[in-house]
Formats: sequence, structure tokens, C-alpha cells
Amino acid sequence: MSDGEVFPVPEEWAKRAHMDAAAYEAACRRADEDPEGFWREVGERLDWITPFTQVKDVSFNREDFRIRWYADGALNVSVNCLDRHIETRGDQVAIIWESDDGQVSDKLTYRQLLAETCRWANVLKAKGVKKGDRVTIYLPMIPAAAAAMLACARIGAVHSVVFGGFSPDSLAGRIQDCDSRIVITANEGLRGGKVVPLKANVDEALKTCPGVTDVIVVRRTQTEVPMTPGRDEYYGDLKKTVPDTCDPEPMNAEDPLFILYTSGSTGKPKGVLHTTGGYLAWAAYTHELVFDYRPGEVFWCTADVGWVTGHSYVVYGPLANAATSLIFEGVPNYPTSSRFWEVCDKHKVEIFYTAPTAIRALMREGEEPVRRTSRSTIRLLGTVGEPINPEAWLWYHRVVGEGRCPIVDTWWQTETGACLMSPLPGATPLKPGSCTRPLPGVKPQLVDAEGKVLDGATSGNLCLTDSWPGQMRTVYGDHERFIVTYFTTYPGKYFTGDGARRDEDGYYWITGRVDDVINVSGHRLGTAEIESALVGHEAVAEAAVVGYPHEIKGQGIYCYVTLKVGEHPSEALQADLRGWVRREIGPFAAPDVIQFAPGLPKTRSGKIMRRILRKIAEDDLGNLGDTSTLADPAVVDDLVAHRAGAS
Ligand code: WTA
Repeated sequence: MSDGEVFPVPEEWAKRAHMDAAAYEAACRRADEDPEGFWREVGERLDWITPFTQVKDVSFNREDFRIRWYADGALNVSVNCLDRHIETRGDQVAIIWESDDGQVSDKLTYRQLLAETCRWANVLKAKGVKKGDRVTIYLPMIPAAAAAMLACARIGAVHSVVFGGFSPDSLAGRIQDCDSRIVITANEGLRGGKVVPLKANVDEALKTCPGVTDVIVVRRTQTEVPMTPGRDEYYGDLKKTVPDTCDPEPMNAEDPLFILYTSGSTGKPKGVLHTTGGYLAWAAYTHELVFDYRPGEVFWCTADVGWVTGHSYVVYGPLANAATSLIFEGVPNYPTSSRFWEVCDKHKVEIFYTAPTAIRALMREGEEPVRRTSRSTIRLLGTVGEPINPEAWLWYHRVVGEGRCPIVDTWWQTETGACLMSPLPGATPLKPGSCTRPLPGVKPQLVDAEGKVLDGATSGNLCLTDSWPGQMRTVYGDHERFIVTYFTTYPGKYFTGDGARRDEDGYYWITGRVDDVINVSGHRLGTAEIESALVGHEAVAEAAVVGYPHEIKGQGIYCYVTLKVGEHPSEALQADLRGWVRREIGPFAAPDVIQFAPGLPKTRSGKIMRRILRKIAEDDLGNLGDTSTLADPAVVDDLVAHRAGAS
């Protein structure tokens, strides 16, 4: 498949779109020539309690580093997502909820979601939660997750949502890091027909979190779980004691809205901090533009609210735009691999947004599970989270979209808050596998390893030379780490950690991470985190983890493990280590391959040569490169001879 294949903008899309090709070019020009005016309009899409007069105040240089947007304005996020729609759309459905097994579904109107949000807000207040306090949310994909997030926003508390797939240990680390005193969870979750013991995980986590005084538990199932008196209470009981109205707290544009932990190349996951005004403006602006969204259309983003995609495109962006947003509790292949499309038919989904890994997994099941559904309401498809290979793109387009739906391949990161590069359905001809061009106002740049700016058609490391309102503001509790991680590799620029190619049409093709972050089924993981889990096992002396291409997951997890003296390689030990990592981090981090290695390739100064380990894992043995600088070159021969899968 050559890059040459281009899918033109369908005529009806060019006609109906918020932005056609000419309008896109004009918006990009405007952002260059009148940035102040352009960004002011982006901010003005929100309702402000105190309108802002300052628009942008940014420097990426260390001496006067700052990122501030709309900084003298005040607003409340929940008012923008709920109250302001009530007059005209109070009875419109805000959230459609579809349960794991499809036996139950539910609908909440904007009026109902506002009342529920206020109850949650009052429950939190009654527990003593105040503006600026951190609240950890560890819930399944149920409407309460959205209501709890919005409730925090209403009273000015800062939420930290932790994906329900994380282990007690990972949860504990996140609670401790942001010092939250309160945890919201459910007795159990249900996912793909399996029970997720959320409350039990919380109990386990809290053994190492003495600062937590209150746990609010939502009853998702009938199962009784142990409740610690004085600490744990059911939301169902608490909500009866509070009113369903709550005055919103006026927040400064730069007050924190949420913390979301994400993996980097080193150390523990960092708490990415997003603020109120800029984040919401950017989430709403991009949701409208990229999905060509109009109020009332049924929008389904399949991401879990535990990831940034769920924050920006299940909750904040859609609700700010008066959307009907679908919250799905389940997985793509349960009870059958028609599930996604059955849900689309059942709820008349018009815009569908998912991850390449789901598409690849469904593609493997063939066309029949798709074909037996109608999908006639779907007009637009989207993908996010990892590069989409052209084969999967073409299948998505031809089979799922019947050739009539444009695909928006949206590139962005937890750090960027919302999309930065994506086609616009009414403006951008599509090339399968390319996230095409930057949104108006976004300034990508490719540089080489030394930071030299590369022009024209080329490949390099992807930076952004200027800010956008949805940019993260700091790493919670460690501003220095924020600056060092993102702004010192190429001073004066934000470095994304991604590599990319730019073609002769100026289209971008993300090639993946160039750092030690791997992307497994769209879940972002630091190899250092997995290594640290492995060396925590009593049999392990040393471990090195790399990614390798995996047909379904995008990248798989390949672990090289050196055992302590006296320990012996065995299949049982492999299984044990796999289970160990699942328990330490979460099931999605389970290693795909464990190779026992008597030694790891190191330089004479003791640095592990990951490049070589990656090549071996990728089975690219012809390109091991120069091994002469290794302390012990024979190590490599052994690794190759005993490569997992090698005969
Ligand atoms: C990758 C998810 C190619 C990229 C929103 C990025 C993508 C990382 C795309 C961020 C895409 C995301 N094409 N790669 N459309 N979208 N990525 O923080 O490597 O979970 O740096 O945010 O996912 O992952 P994160």
C-alpha cells in the first residue's frame, strides 16, 4: 500500500462541515496573523463568570517559563457542561449508559445529570472536601464516574481518576502521590462478563494510604463487600441526605481541574495536571471541529474515563458541546464480537471513536460479525491512541463504515489535553495511517537528534514550538520534572517523545515513541515501571523490558530477566513472573514474552544497550549494529541463541 492512496472529502461533508478546506486554511492563517484574536475566540466558546481579558501568556524558556491561558478569567467547568444547556436542552439525553452485558441501559437527561452532579457535590462537601482538595476516583464505566468528576469540578476539588484495571499497588501509589483523603469506588465492576473487585482493591491499597479518611462506595452489583465502619459509606445512603442543587464554585482559569497519572520513560508515573479554562476550551473546540459535532448528535467514544481520552471525549468535550455521550461499560468482544456495532444500532450512534487495537482485534474475527449489523446511523469514524496500520484503517473504512464514513485519525497525548493533529471530515483528504495535519493554531516541528530543525518531507522527532490552551501545566508536586521531561531535550520547545514522518503534502505520520515508553493495546506503559515490578520479585536480579511489534496490541511487552544466583529458569517461574507483574501494575501490563538471560548487554560503563535488546525482540538480527563497545559481546550471542521463539 503506497502513501499515494488518498480518500477525497465527500461532497456532503464539505457542505455541512463547520470547517471546509478553505475555512481550515483561513483558520490556520488567522492563528498565525492574529493569534490573540484566534485564541480569544477559542476561549469565548465557554461561559465565563468573570470574562478573561488576558489570552495567552507563555514562555517555554527556562528563565521565564510559564504557561497561562485566559488567566484573569473565572468560570466553572460543570456549569459549562451542564447548567448552561438546561434552558434549551434540559430534557435532551446527556448520557446514554450501556451495561456490560447489554441487559440494562439507562439514559440521563441534562437536567438529571445536573441534579445527580449536585448530589455528588453535596456528598463530597459533607465529607469536608474543599476547593483544591484531591479526590481519587476508581470506578467502572458507569454514569456515576461522569457525575463524580463533574461534582469535583463544581466544588473546585481536583479529581484523579485511576483506571479500574490498575492494581491495588498502582492505585496506592497514585493516592499517595497526590495525597487524596477521599476515594470514590464501586463494590465491584463488570467487564466482559468478569467481576472486577474494585472495593477489595481499594481496601488493599489503603493499607499503605493512612491519609485516606473516607471511601464512598457505589453499588454496581448485588454483592456485599466488607465496609470499614467510620471510613466507608455507600453513596446510595449518603445521597438521600443531601439536596440536589449546589452552587458552583467560581474557579480561576488556571486553577487545577484534574490530575491524571501517565507513564514516562523514567521513574514512577507522573501526575499530569490540567487546569480549568484552557483545558475545557480546547476539549470543546477540538470535539466540535474534529468530529464536526452538532448538539444532540449521539457520540460514542469507547475509551475508559480512566484515560485521558475518556476525560476529554466521553465527559468534558462532548458535554461542553451539549452532546449525547454514550458510556459503555463493556468490551468489544463480549458477549460476541458484534457488540460494538449492536450498541451503535441500539442507540443510533452517529459518531464512533475507538482505538486501533480494538479494530485489529475485531478484524481478526472477519467481516460477518460486522455485516450482520446495520450501522446505518454511523456517519463518522475516529481512532486514537496509537498508530493505525493502513490495513486496519482500510478495513475500518470499507467494512465498518461501508466506504461512506470519513475516518479521523487523531494524534494527541495525555499531556496535550485533547487532539492536536487530525483530519477534519469536511476539509482534509485522508491518507490511511496518517493523522494528516495540525489543527489550526497548533505548531508541530520535526527536529533531528541534535535539535536541528528539519524542513520539507523528512522524518524526525516531533516537537511543538508553541502552546495551545489544553497543554498540561505541570507535573503534580514536581514542576522541575515537568520542565526537565518536556522542555530541555530541545530547549524552548515541547518535546512529545514521538517520532514522525512528514510527507510531501505536509501530512504527518506518527511512527511511535522514540523514548522508553511503549504503547500496548493503546495503553501507555513505561518500560522502567515493568522493570521495577520485575526486580521486586525475589528470584529476579535484573530486568530489561522493550516493546516489539504485536499484531493485535500494536506493541507487545518483551522482558529480559536475569535471575539471582541459585534460581533456575522454568516455565513455572515464567508464569509466576507474569502473574507478579499483573498484580503489581495491572492485568494489561502482563508480559507477552519473558526470556531468561544469564547477562544483559552493557557498555563498559554499565549502561544497558536497549537498542540491541529491541532488535533481538523484533527479530531484526541482521541489524544489531556495533556490539564491540559492549563489556562482554558474548552476551549477545547467548541472547540471540535463546531468543523466545527461536528454535
Ligand atoms: C500515541 C492518548 C499515532 C503517541 C490520547 C502518543 C498515537 C501516545 C495517536 C499518547 C495516533 C496517540 N497515531 N500514535 N492517532 N494517538 N498516539 O498519553 O505515541 O495515552 O505519544 O494519550 O499515544 O498516549 P496517551
